[in-house]
Amino acid sequence: MTLQTQSPTTPTSTSTSTSTTFHYLLPTLLFSLLFILFLSSSLSPSPLSLSHDPLLFPSHPNHNHPLLFLSHRSPSSSTPPPSPSLAYLISGSKGDSGRILRLLFAVYHPMNHYLIHLDLGAEDSDRDEMVRVVMGVRVFKAAQNVNVVGKAGLCYEDGASAVSCVLHGASVLLRLSGRWDWFVHLSASHYPLITQDDLLHILSYLPKDVNFVNHTSYIGWRESRRLKPIVVDPGLYLSEINPMFYASQKRELPDAYQLFTGSASGILSRNLLEFCIVGTENFPRTLLMYLSNSLSAQSLYFPTLICNSKQFRRTIINHNLQHAALDDKQEPRPLNSSDIDDLFNTGAAFASPFLPDDPVLDLIDQKILGRDPGKPTPGGWCVGESEDDICSDWGDAEVLRPSPAARKLERSIVKLLSDGAYKSHQCVVE
Ligand SMILES: *[C@@H]1O[C@H](CO)[C@@H](O)[C@H](O)[C@H]1NC(C)=O
Ligand SMILES: *[C@@H]1O[C@H](CO)[C@@H](O)[C@H](O)[C@H]1NC(C)=O
Repeated sequence: MTLQTQSPTTPTSTSTSTSTTFHYLLPTLLFSLLFILFLSSSLSPSPLSLSHDPLLFPSHPNHNHPLLFLSHRSPSSSTPPPSPSLAYLISGSKGDSGRILRLLFAVYHPMNHYLIHLDLGAEDSDRDEMVRVVMGVRVFKAAQNVNVVGKAGLCYEDGASAVSCVLHGASVLLRLSGRWDWFVHLSASHYPLITQDDLLHILSYLPKDVNFVNHTSYIGWRESRRLKPIVVDPGLYLSEINPMFYASQKRELPDAYQLFTGSASGILSRNLLEFCIVGTENFPRTLLMYLSNSLSAQSLYFPTLICNSKQFRRTIINHNLQHAALDDKQEPRPLNSSDIDDLFNTGAAFASPFLPDDPVLDLIDQKILGRDPGKPTPGGWCVGESEDDICSDWGDAEVLRPSPAARKLERSIVKLLSDGAYKSHQCVVE
């Protein structure tokens, strides 16, 4: 602004003043540009020009273009398969920051990518604080794999806006990295039951196109009661939190495709997310528009999408690798210390819901993850000397150090896959 309003009465003095102003402005401009990017773009990452710490990715000097690198590697049967990578969307709302950070540390691994979404229920100051805390963690900075959504949306768990938030997160993660293989959406009430080294180790033996999603076509009266009402999700058109709008009419179930209900989250392949977000077939969008007036859209979208698609219906496994316990009304109930034996033995990768700071989380940290408060779960990448902070120094992130607990997950996956048993549970129409 100052530059444009100056009138060039004395050319020489102006040019010097211009150049000094310019020098002065340039860093400010750059700074404010970064600041704007930082605050108001949909992402708040650290500047993209910084490069990753080569200590973490020695065989991927250019971590952003791993495909180039992978094509050079000659596969050899004696070495274990290369470590896959997961993209996590962790979402929460007002008052969830503390739990989200704890969950982030618990599922952290430098190979993965993390996107944190605090929806509009939370304040901007909560998002700023989250960015500040995340940027203060040395390994997050070194691996450059934790991002916070700056321009948040409203996500109603019961409505279609929840699906839109998940697709938004997945689309940002697709753009952030060309490398991850599976997408996992966790809420603030989730917690892992195994280390990431265990999970990545087991997943490295699976084809990259499998999808772990609970699903059923069974629609009883209870389900009908949720599927037939026509609702309008305020998260799709109102800027403030409002109750869901119910129309007085009901509608029939679709006959152009078969509805499947299932779990709100699972482990989804990158292919599937690309199909939803940048694919050329229109079904992902048609279904989304149908669901915009449905309750529980989140537990319908992926099961229905996968089971009605020729390309994906053979890739689904009817288990989301998550543990849940049901109460008398068949609703998931909070897990606590009384469930610890189940949590140890279930062979699942995650469980939910947990209440904030429930003592059972400390037990999981100590007995399963070996994690200290405020620190990431140790893995093969941690090479520090000091006993109580071995992750303060790091080495090659592709080196996984699975624990005996990996066996439990291995057993449950082997059981799911043995004798092609999974085929008889795939998208069965009842
Ligand atoms: C998913 O399905 C499995 C097997 O049918 C079941 O044990 C598990 O509790 C289900 N999980 C959820 C979250 O419904
Ligand atoms: C855990 O939850 C169950 C069921 O909600 C309850 O009966 C039990 O007393 C709880 N245990 C603890 C240690 O809080």
